[in-house]
Amino acid sequence: MITKKPIVAANWKMYKTPQEGVTFVIEICNLLLDKEKPTIIFCPSFTSLFHINENLPDSGIELGSQNVYFESEGAFTGETSVQMLKDCGVRYVIIGHSERRHIFNENNASLNKKLHVVLDNGLVPIFCIGETFDDRNAGYTQRILKEQLAKGLDGIKGQLIDRMVIAYEPVWAIGTGVNAEPKQVEDTHLQINELLAELYANELVKQIPILYGGSVKPENAKALIEVEGVDGFLVGGASLKLELFFKIIKIVNNNYMG
Ligand code: 13P
Repeated sequence: MITKKPIVAANWKMYKTPQEGVTFVIEICNLLLDKEKPTIIFCPSFTSLFHINENLPDSGIELGSQNVYFESEGAFTGETSVQMLKDCGVRYVIIGHSERRHIFNENNASLNKKLHVVLDNGLVPIFCIGETFDDRNAGYTQRILKEQLAKGLDGIKGQLIDRMVIAYEPVWAIGTGVNAEPKQVEDTHLQINELLAELYANELVKQIPILYGGSVKPENAKALIEVEGVDGFLVGGASLKLELFFKIIKIVNNNYMG
């Protein structure tokens, strides 16, 4: 059973124009008005952040970005700094999404630099980890997660770690329609907790929310949010459709409120 306030984060990837994003967020706010709700985070593309922030009703809904660069400014064509994000009202930053790792060749060393800069500047990373289909079949899941955590979190002090969110996203479940089974999620979240406890004190580890991501939809959200150790979701495809995303938020909220 969840004790931390659950998180439902929407990763919109490369979908929705700024105007479509604003319309969606306003409609969700209207549906959720005055209701107790989980922490809801929208992560649109960079071009939408400013516009959504300017038009965000006073709703408690949070804004996140899908990436950041680790330098503060300079000749880095195509990149975006933490300060630029902060000025757009961003509080959360997705780091290490599997699409960044696999399509854009981001590695544990560069992700580590990004985690440092995000935490040092007061923002909250949503640090994504997860194994591929081949890793899991070969029995390497734990090894891969350990490497991603140990290298990604290298040098990050305990006093910053309680501002971290981890998202476990098995690569084989992302965008495939096939979610990880609740038992697989439970076992893997437990492993992640144990791996974190090798790096940090237990009382700190207990405060770190661990989200599940990978084909979350209304049909499987109840079974997945009931899993011990799941503190919320990072949702891709289903976060693009108002009705689906609203249903997922309601399911998470019902589980939290008992
Ligand atoms: P889907 O929900 O579309 O599988 O995507 C998950 C994801 O990548 C969230 O970051």
